[in-house]
Amino acid sequence: MPKPFLLHPAFVHFPIALLLTGLVGAGVSVWSKRWAWLADAVSWLLWLGTASAWGAMGLGLLAEKTAPHVPPAWETLATHKTLAYWTVGLFIVLSLWRRFFKDRWSRLFLLAWLGAATVLLATAYHGGELVFTHNMGTAASAE
Ligand code: HEM
Repeated sequence: MPKPFLLHPAFVHFPIALLLTGLVGAGVSVWSKRWAWLADAVSWLLWLGTASAWGAMGLGLLAEKTAPHVPPAWETLATHKTLAYWTVGLFIVLSLWRRFFKDRWSRLFLLAWLGAATVLLATAYHGGELVFTHNMGTAASAE
């Protein structure tokens, strides 16, 4: 029997990897203009990372509906969900900022990305708690 809630953990690596790599690229491009291609690479990492955060959110909502319920995990699940909404919202704002203002105000932009990345990591941390502290989605919770 296929388990739709397993799609979410398979997918979450994309926003985490793309948006953290983009953050490093944005940091490098603030301090050095040596690589002209870097600004475009940073924009695409941000846009693809934001699109994949949407995907992770959709698959997360699917996981919430299909994974076996673990009552002690409910509070962590609610926090994880709220943080995920904030993550997606913040990265949508950053994506639009990048689209319309390119790399203007790059230091402020970097600071805002750092803030959004912190919320992303907090989301992922609570996701990890669901699986590794509460066994949500694992064989142990299906017993
Ligand atoms: C930006 C969006 C999101 C990110 C980056 C994210 C990240 C993660 C991570 C890293 C894990 C742990 C995976 C593992 O240890 O293998 C996880 C698990 C989980 N997340 Fe999310 N998450 C997001 C959105 C959501 C949303 C909106 C929900 C809905 C409530 C959700 C529900 C779950 C559930 C139920 C699990 C337990 C594993 C499973 O059954 O799939 N997530 N998440």
